[in-house]
Amino acid sequence: MNNTHLLKMLDLDKEEILEILNLADQLKYENLYGIQHHVLQGKTLGMIFQKSSTRTRVSFEVGMYQLGGEALFLSSRDLQLGRGEPIQDTARVLSRYLNGIMIRTFAQKEVEDLAKFGSIPVINGLTDFCHPCQVLADLMTIREYKKSFDGLKMCYIGDGNNMANSLIVGGLKVGMKVAAACPQGYLPDQQVLDFAKDNPNFLLTQNILEAAAGADVLFTDVWASMGEEDQAEQRKKDFAGWQINDTVLEAANPECMVQHCLPAHRGEEITEKVFEAHAKEIFDEAENRLHAQKAVMALLMK
Ligand code: CP
Ligand code: NVA
Repeated sequence: MNNTHLLKMLDLDKEEILEILNLADQLKYENLYGIQHHVLQGKTLGMIFQKSSTRTRVSFEVGMYQLGGEALFLSSRDLQLGRGEPIQDTARVLSRYLNGIMIRTFAQKEVEDLAKFGSIPVINGLTDFCHPCQVLADLMTIREYKKSFDGLKMCYIGDGNNMANSLIVGGLKVGMKVAAACPQGYLPDQQVLDFAKDNPNFLLTQNILEAAAGADVLFTDVWASMGEEDQAEQRKKDFAGWQINDTVLEAANPECMVQHCLPAHRGEEITEKVFEAHAKEIFDEAENRLHAQKAVMALLMK
């Protein structure tokens, strides 16, 4: 892996993504047989959280433990960062104690600054811009079920948010066709649209069924992300009908998978029926967070 950090999918090339996924597959397989690799023995990961989390926190903490190291949960409520200590100083201080930092925050710039001013690997555990750890787990799950990315079509329906941004980049980088259906006013980030615009495998549309046509994997995400709670009522109106339901599945390939990063809002972006019919794939996806992140930590922090 050439990168010293995991800040966004845009930074990774196809070979690096596959290197992470291959190691993740190996770690998952070996974990089944009780084989542990304590490659991070004696190392500590600091985990800064400025937003809530179930999966990210627990999977990083358990992953670090399984690799022989330890993880520290650092809520921004308790850190001086939360009282205005600059990220440049936080980065330089934490670099003296820790061997890696995972951060979940609002602005992507904060994550980039942590990497710039610190001297240890930084892993993005979600920003408003992107969610690379999630998308690595998603790609791992797609390959687990479909065996290869060749010729597959990914479809994302909903808010052009952190998940949309990372899925578009990740899907295109591994060679999938990617169709995104996002309402006007809720399009993916311009940086991502610029990255994708000349790629013949990319489609951006306002037509859900056009995006879903022949899809091999359908993704969606919540209508209002963390930090957008004050827009929730407006968004409920704007996103009405932007949902994965039976009609959308009928447009897709009969063998189509459904993925959701979770937490899910049944009855909003996905129906209860579709969610439960595809629960095995969705919870495999959640499990794969652990394996994909162990691979990332092993590659960056060893
Ligand atoms: N998908 C995901 O990142 O979940 P958490 O918010 O629970 O970490
Ligand atoms: N888009 C969601 C993803 C949660 C994992 C959010 O940012 O809240």
